[in-house]
Amino acid sequence: MAEIGIDIERAAQILREGELVAIPTETVYGLAAHALQSDAVLKIFTAKQRPHFDPLIVHISDVGQLATVASHVPEKAKTLAALFWPGPLTMVLPKAAAIPDLVTSGLETVAVRMPRHPMALDLLRTVGFPLAAPSANPFGYVSPTTAAHVADQMGHELTYILDGGPCEVGLESTIISLEGPQPMILRVGGTPVEAIEKAIGPLQIAPHSSDNPKAPGMLSSHYATGTPLVVGDVETLAAVHHDRKFAVLGWRHTHGHQGIALSPDGKMDEAATRLFAAMRTLDQRKEFDLIIAEKMPDSGLGRAINDRLGRAAFKNPL
Ligand code: TXA
Ligand code: MG
Repeated sequence: MAEIGIDIERAAQILREGELVAIPTETVYGLAAHALQSDAVLKIFTAKQRPHFDPLIVHISDVGQLATVASHVPEKAKTLAALFWPGPLTMVLPKAAAIPDLVTSGLETVAVRMPRHPMALDLLRTVGFPLAAPSANPFGYVSPTTAAHVADQMGHELTYILDGGPCEVGLESTIISLEGPQPMILRVGGTPVEAIEKAIGPLQIAPHSSDNPKAPGMLSSHYATGTPLVVGDVETLAAVHHDRKFAVLGWRHTHGHQGIALSPDGKMDEAATRLFAAMRTLDQRKEFDLIIAEKMPDSGLGRAINDRLGRAAFKNPL
């Protein structure tokens, strides 16, 4: 069973030896390995039971490291790095030769980001090499936002979990592809699309589906709870499902039903921070046979929350 602690040097030593460490980031916890060593990276896929067609994000602590990771850095990528790094934005760029094919699932591109959690940055600087890290959950389940979430589900696959407290953002990074002439959002996430558009102009958002070659691994059905989940207008769904034992995952309130309100003050960033932990809590209470999640306003972080809820619901249509 993994130990939970705050020893950066110990985490660094495990990574140098080619083993895995779970690390905090401002978005969600990651399952990290030395990004330039295939043998180490392979352990991530095995531990997560992740299909090899789903490439990983490479984490760096310094813009200077981009040269190790990417073969070319377009102007727009430089602009976005200056504005949003460190932070929840991942850029897909042409890959450098040093990045093993396993990291990119054989693609000619690599996804890279600079996290802003101080422990993640400290660890990256200590080891001096980039870290490949997907979210530290079994493939297809909700991402972990505390060290305890990681221990619950991945504890048997690891020796050490670096504990950085609950994640500040709570949703995975926004992913933007900058490989072609037309930048494209591959995944909505912790950096609002509107903020990126302000910097580099209007953006297309790729449809996510299991057969979208632009975003391998962006499966429609993902982030799933064991308990079926539906998303939409709470009153309407509660009427449809009146004969079931449901819990409401509401925004400001639970509309008089049992459940969890994500942000009684109506703060979207707080709702995002608490989303995955709330999904887990309701899922683990086992007394419910359905989770009714409230659809958020479809802008800013609300768009990313709706995306995750929509994908959690995908396997369980009405
Ligand atoms: O916030 C985050 O991004 C977290 C933390 C740990 O950094 N990581 C994360 O990783 O969410 P993961 O593996 O759960 O999601 C990474 C996504 C996958 O859907 C994958 O398909 C996409 O990034 N991706 C990685 N490399 C890519 C590439 N070269 N082209 C297109 N998509 C890529
Ligand atoms: Mg993930």
